[in-house]
Amino acid sequence: MSDQASSTVRFRPDVLAVPPYRQGAAPTKPGFKLSSNENPFAPLPEVLEAIAAHTGVNRYAAVAMPELRETIGAEFGVPGSHVHLAAGSVAILYQLVQAAAGAGDAYLHAWPSFEAYPALGLASGAEGVRVPLTATAEHDLDAMADAITESARVVLLCSPNNPTGPAIRRSDFDRFMARVPADTLVVLDEAYREFVTDPEAVRGEDVLGDHPNLVVLRTFSKAYGLAGLRIGYGVGDPAIFAAAASVAIPLSVTGIAEIAARASLTPAARAVNAERVAELAARRDALAAALRALGLAIPEAQGNFVWVPEALISEGGVPDALALAASFADSGTLVRPFAGSGVRISVGEPESTAEVLRVIREHLVALGVPVADPAPEPASATAVD
Ligand SMILES: Cc1ncc(COP(=O)(O)O)c(C=O)c1O
Repeated sequence: MSDQASSTVRFRPDVLAVPPYRQGAAPTKPGFKLSSNENPFAPLPEVLEAIAAHTGVNRYAAVAMPELRETIGAEFGVPGSHVHLAAGSVAILYQLVQAAAGAGDAYLHAWPSFEAYPALGLASGAEGVRVPLTATAEHDLDAMADAITESARVVLLCSPNNPTGPAIRRSDFDRFMARVPADTLVVLDEAYREFVTDPEAVRGEDVLGDHPNLVVLRTFSKAYGLAGLRIGYGVGDPAIFAAAASVAIPLSVTGIAEIAARASLTPAARAVNAERVAELAARRDALAAALRALGLAIPEAQGNFVWVPEALISEGGVPDALALAASFADSGTLVRPFAGSGVRISVGEPESTAEVLRVIREHLVALGVPVADPAPEPASATAVD
């Protein structure tokens, strides 16, 4: 019985039926934390200085934040009025689904995908419809277009897809959008867009102007390393964000988060962050190549994480995602298991790559899975595939 169900207070059965969002476990011993797709680099010194100088926290932040919105909008070629800020992009996901899809309506998303998606419709009573990924762990956009019924008010696209890694190709996105009715909201969740190196991948900036029913979501949590400050944004039609604002929790974006975001967008800070992102993408590619060299046919990795499908780590056909995560935890490293589908491993510190490979290799050997000879240890910043 869940904690909620044991209370004497009566809750909605549909709420009790959905498990709460599960955060990556907190470390209990020294090791690598590769369970929440965080940025392993320490915050930029100028960001920390800007935060420290903001002492007026006895006041609410002025919520309009025009300078930050203008700066973000310029990247997309739109005015600041087309930019919507929230305490994390996950908050905008909630707002948009709640604003557009009510009781009797549906919203669609791929599955497996971001673990927060299934609960987004709870507040409004909208039904979440899961469309399975393809065999290569990509969005099945034809199946998603087929699933758009009269009641489908929102479609969520996650590119690159968390937890599996592939990005949506531009050509597939265009074909999909041509089939979406103009009154259906499409949310392109690009939380990991900065890490994408596939030139064929869709990019919000390139497609936003073509679709008035499209919102692009980005965040300062991943590439900018501000996960703990909670600030993300959407870019799209101001009329869509006016509806989102009606269901938003007021006053959620803090002044400290705004200041940190602005300090992250100066030319100097952007340059350092771009180098860091390139290094993480190279580290990801090196890890993915080394896993493939072990014999694991893992999917394309375009975020700051790799995905090991459960089928690759089964023992005699018995699902094993939790067992692999337990092997990691025993050695002090935290990864994110998805029971029944696979294990997601974030790209972390340079030394984490060798540790990830060591644990997986030993796990496979213990399972009796044939393992190729160890590849030479990948250099931390060198792409090898
Ligand atoms: C696909 C995706 N979207 C959105 C988010 C939310 O990020 P935040 O609320 O920190 O901006 C995450 C976080 O992990 C994510 O993986």
